[in-house]
Amino acid sequence: MAFMTWDERLCVGIDVIDEDHKRLVDLVNELHRSITSQAGAEVSVAIFDRLADATRFHFAREEALLDETGYEDTAEHKRGHHDLILQIQDLKAKFRHNVLTAPPALIMDFLKDWLTEHILISDKKYVSHLSTRHPG
Ligand SMILES: [Fe+2]
Repeated sequence: MAFMTWDERLCVGIDVIDEDHKRLVDLVNELHRSITSQAGAEVSVAIFDRLADATRFHFAREEALLDETGYEDTAEHKRGHHDLILQIQDLKAKFRHNVLTAPPALIMDFLKDWLTEHILISDKKYVSHLSTRHPG
């Protein structure tokens, strides 16, 4: 069974955003598999890189949509994105240099929790705004 499963609860109903979120869930699962199967630090760091890239890409897409449609809390949303990117980069660097300050299982729980909270708390706030202004 996958470490993190996609279900309707995580669906925001805007196709491009949902597809990005599914990709992030897939990458979290891939990272989890590489860590639990002890595939080696190089493999995990490469997946971390892809997760960081996909996260930046997704955040940029969200921010552009919010800017284009005049979302009133865009500044707060961007601050949340910025903090998350810094945390992922920090984790990636620690992973790369093998200086993690927490066990890998806790790191994975952190990644799962931030992605879930990003979708359920942060993104759900803008859904009603965006769904009336963006065709999907
Ligand atoms: Fe999002």
